[in-house]
Amino acid sequence: MAGALKDLFSSSVAVMETRNSKIDASFLSSAERTYLENVSQNRKTEFIAGRFCAHEAMELANIEPGHIHIGGKGEPIWPFNIVGSITHSHGYAAAAVARKSDVLSLGVDAETDEPLSSKVLQRISNDQEQEWVKTVGGTLVQHPGKVLFSAKEATYKAWFPITHEWLGFKEAFINFHDQGNTFTVHIQKKGPIREMHGKYTMRKGMIVTAIEVPSPKSEIQL
Ligand SMILES: CC(C)(COP(=O)(O)OP(=O)(O)OC[C@H]1O[C@@H](n2cnc3c(N)ncnc32)[C@H](O)[C@@H]1OP(=O)(O)O)[C@@H](O)C(=O)NCCC(=O)NCCS
Repeated sequence: MAGALKDLFSSSVAVMETRNSKIDASFLSSAERTYLENVSQNRKTEFIAGRFCAHEAMELANIEPGHIHIGGKGEPIWPFNIVGSITHSHGYAAAAVARKSDVLSLGVDAETDEPLSSKVLQRISNDQEQEWVKTVGGTLVQHPGKVLFSAKEATYKAWFPITHEWLGFKEAFINFHDQGNTFTVHIQKKGPIREMHGKYTMRKGMIVTAIEVPSPKSEIQL
């Protein structure tokens, strides 16, 4: 089920990914550089790689690459009228961006393609999700527990910019579809979004999941 990152999104979304690249950090703002003074080398590398992907994706979308500020909960604060999402894990980094007029929110998450411990699986999932993990494990999807985990992280990244609220792992359930690499998220918490749609892919040792919430008219239930 290997597919390109761009295939996880509609044509309204620009994406960029990188693996273990040496990146010149001169594009960072002075606030970002100040933030990096007090973090570990690993965090520094991941932060720069994520921001680099975000800037490149903005350029691809013909968006003037503005600085991305750091919100109170660690969320990226995108330039005016832009939505986006960043992920980084074990040398891999990716970002997705779009114009707010096309897309309400985005979530992208990368995890290593490895088993998820049964303890974590229990903590994050309901019976139906666990049944899916049991049924598909080792077939087309080697590590479905991790796909599920990643889908939930992507859900949170897409949910948070809309609501500015916490969403627990058991406040959203993922229904993976039998055909293809798609899933529907059913949000259990009261709020403007009850359903989201996503896709996943596995490539070169990484699982990447993506959520795209289209602009309001079609998706938001008031
Ligand atoms: C925030 C969280 C989703 C990040 O995921 P992760 O796998 O740990 O890390 P990733 O590398 O994939 O993503 C990190 C990026 O997420 C983004 N991010 C952080 N907090 C965020 C938030 N509240 N909303 C949106 N994006 C956020 C940032 O851009 C960050 O990178 P940066 O700090 O370099 O800018 C995760 O740490 C977390 O808190 N999860 C618990 C909430 C949750 O997932 N609930 C499940 C709901 S079903």
